[in-house]
Amino acid sequence: MSKRIRKAVFPVAGLGTRFLPATKAVPKEMMTVVDRPALQYVVDEAKAAGIEHFIFVTGRGKEVIENHFDLAFELEATLAARNKTAALEELRAERPAAGTTSFTRQQEPLGLGHAVWCARDIVGDEPFAVLLPDMLMKHTVPCLKSMVDAFEASGGNIVSLEECDPAQTSSYGIVALGKTLGPDVFEVTDMVEKPKPADAPSNFFISGRYILQPRIFELLGTQERGAGGEIQLTDSMLRLASEQDFYGVRFRGTTFDTGTKLGFLKANIAYGSERTDIHPDIVKELRATLGA
Ligand code: UTP
Repeated sequence: MSKRIRKAVFPVAGLGTRFLPATKAVPKEMMTVVDRPALQYVVDEAKAAGIEHFIFVTGRGKEVIENHFDLAFELEATLAARNKTAALEELRAERPAAGTTSFTRQQEPLGLGHAVWCARDIVGDEPFAVLLPDMLMKHTVPCLKSMVDAFEASGGNIVSLEECDPAQTSSYGIVALGKTLGPDVFEVTDMVEKPKPADAPSNFFISGRYILQPRIFELLGTQERGAGGEIQLTDSMLRLASEQDFYGVRFRGTTFDTGTKLGFLKANIAYGSERTDIHPDIVKELRATLGA
């Protein structure tokens, strides 16, 4: 079986209820961080990790996502006629090549596991990546790239890991770690969904990037609904872990949960502060606003 990770799944069918009313008509994945949709950053991370095919699991009201990754003919023609070369080049550079995107609908938001399962026929019988598009993971080395590198050495299944406050383990999927296999690469020996701090095997949580073997689709296909009445990805990963190896790659950058109001604002400040075109003004405005 091929060891290369060529395909990535982006589950974008959720309702984004934590960010209402903004997400009533605008998908949360399309909310802008500085001047680009949050989803574009995550697609760029996948590209930087060598992903060649981008699979979006969408739902009703998410048509703008498909439009964003398509050629906007009238717009490009107008930019060309007006000699807006820089903007035109940027649009062209970011557009995935024809035939490298697929869109399927989840139909009902039955949970993350169900969304991933909806991509089964498009992924086929090969290992693949899953990126949660509301988690922006900022680092000089893209998170998925480190995971793909680890996968090429170890195979199996891989999750991204970060450390949480040990008192907050009940908000996360927590792992138990085994052997250290390399810098920031560990064996994962157990996964526990939202344990109380006293029961948590560590304070490392699964943080939004996955490399999974296609066997997960069979497990997801037979799965009952779990926590919150949803088909949970973690439940099937737990079953998969009893059959196959699981590894964790520690991410040492900063993660922003743009599905929450605070995370979204923090992401805008962090990514905006890095932009040479607006950095001095952001700092000045923040100082003026906070009276600092
Ligand atoms: P979240 O739980 O963060 O998204 O799922 P949500 O359900 O949209 O958010 P809230 O809790 O109501 O605010 C993580 C990712 O999985 C997708 C979401 O779109 C998000 O990108 N997802 C979630 C699906 O595609 N389908 C689902 O049924 C659930």
